Parts: sequence; C-alpha cells; structure tokens
Amino acid sequence: MAILSVRNLKKIYTTRFGGNQVQALKNVTFDVECGEYVAIMGESGSGKTTLLNILAALDKPTAGSILLDGRDFSRIRESERAAFRRDNLGFVFQEFNLLDTFSLQDNIFLPLVLAGAPYEEMVKRLEPIARKLGIADILQKFPYEVSGGQKQRAAAARALITHPKLILADEPTGALDSRSTDEMLRLFSSINDSGQTILMVTHSVKAASHAGRVLFIRDGEVFHQIYRGTSTNEQLYQKISDTLTLLATGGDRE
Ligand SMILES: Nc1ncnc2c1ncn2[C@@H]1O[C@H](COP(=O)(O)OP(=O)(O)OP(=O)(O)O)[C@@H](O)[C@H]1O
Ligand SMILES: [Mg+2]
Repeated sequence: MAILSVRNLKKIYTTRFGGNQVQALKNVTFDVECGEYVAIMGESGSGKTTLLNILAALDKPTAGSILLDGRDFSRIRESERAAFRRDNLGFVFQEFNLLDTFSLQDNIFLPLVLAGAPYEEMVKRLEPIARKLGIADILQKFPYEVSGGQKQRAAAARALITHPKLILADEPTGALDSRSTDEMLRLFSSINDSGQTILMVTHSVKAASHAGRVLFIRDGEVFHQIYRGTSTNEQLYQKISDTLTLLATGGDRE
C-alpha cells in the first residue's frame, strides 16, 4: 500500500513585491510504498526542499494533491494538522531548528513531551538512538555548545524518537564528516529495516546508494528513477553516478 501519493504537484512562488514568479515544482507525481526507502536527487534549485516542505505541510502547493496514509492532506482541518503531522511524520531538515534554550536531550524529547509521553518512556526510547548516533555523551549540552554535525544528529534523533511512519529528511548527512555520515546512514537503514518509510533528499551519491529507489528531479519534475533491484550498494552507487553524468550533460528523457 502507498503511504504517500503525490499527484500533479505544482508550486509557484511569487516574490513579496509581486512581479517575479518562480515555478519551483512544475508537475510532480509519484508514490511511496509503505516500508520503502526512497532518495531524491537533483541539482541545486530543482525543487527538492520545496517538495519536502509541502509534504511536511509547512507550505501549501499551488495545485495538486497529497495523500498521506490514504488521507488527503489539504482536507485535514488546520486544528488537526499539527497533531496529524506529529503522529505520522518525522523531519530531519537542512536547518536544524533546535531551540537554543533547551539542552539537546530536551530538544529531542520535545515531540514526545507534546504528545504527552511519560518521562521513563522518553528515556527508554532515546538511549538506543543516541548511542547509534554517537551523541549519548553530549545530551546535556546546548545547541550553541556543539558542532554542526552534532546538531544535525540531535535533530535526527528528535525526528526518530516518535517512531514516525514516514521520515522526511533533507540532506541529513550534509553537515557530517564521513564517519558520522556512515553512522547516520546505518541508523537510517536499521530504522527502515524495522519498517519505517524514509524519503530522503540528498546530494550525496553515497547516501542515495543506501536507498531502495532513487528519484531524480529536474526543473520541478520527476525526470527519472532507478530501482535498486538486486544491486549491491556499490552497483547502485555506479548507476546513480552514471545517471547524474547523463543529467549533467543534458541527456534527454527516455
Ligand atoms: N520562499 C521562496 N520564495 C521564492 N522562491 C523560492 C522560495 N524557496 C525556494 N525558491 C526557489 O524555488 C526553486 C527551488 O528551490 P528549492 O529550495 O526547492 O531547491 P532545492 O532543490 O532544495 O535546492 P538545494 O539543493 O540548493 O537545497 C529555486 O529556484 C528557489 O530559488
Ligand atoms: Mg534544498
């Protein structure tokens, strides 16, 4: 069953003083099946963050529809939307949006606090995630006391602690060194193995090569996709590289 159905999504930004319009998404259509791990790639400015923001209900599409777990997002009342988002979605975004007056641990607990979870439950959930992400020792620090990569891992922990059905990640390895990247990708694979669905935007061929399917966006449209099939990560890596070369040299749609 599809956990996410995106149909003919379109987004036109109008600048504040009128005038210029930017068509960030032209016509995006795709499905994500329950339990899939999908990577989205595309050049800077191709509309990836715009797409994730709309899927996260942080922004509205100009046209088109989104079904999440069979429910039409636009029909969910504003008052219910925050709770629906909290119960179903986890976000790892380019800007970490950690609160500076909270320790990392309190930032990570925040979605569970909002959901009314008991303290023991929060601690129990945090332990394995913090360990896998290598942040167990810095949980009492504040965001301004840690590095960009550590902030990114704390933001990932915050997204994962609610065990969301769908995880939306925008460049989750963008600020990480190669060791932390490996840890993050291992964690993503293990939560995907446990049944959670992941949709991850990335510029990194290595990160994308961990996914089961890779969508390529160009000029606000899904231009191409690759299924892993029986490929190993190395073989998928090669296929992705070849596709990116083709895109960069202006290869035409098949
Ligand atoms: N709030 C906004 N107002 C106007 N234009 C915007 C806005 N946000 C994005 N855009 C434009 O929409 C297009 C798509 O932007 P988007 O941020 O989705 O790209 P992206 O694929 O995420 O790029 P990157 O890889 O650099 O993060 C770009 O041309 C961008 O300049
Ligand atoms: Mg972006």
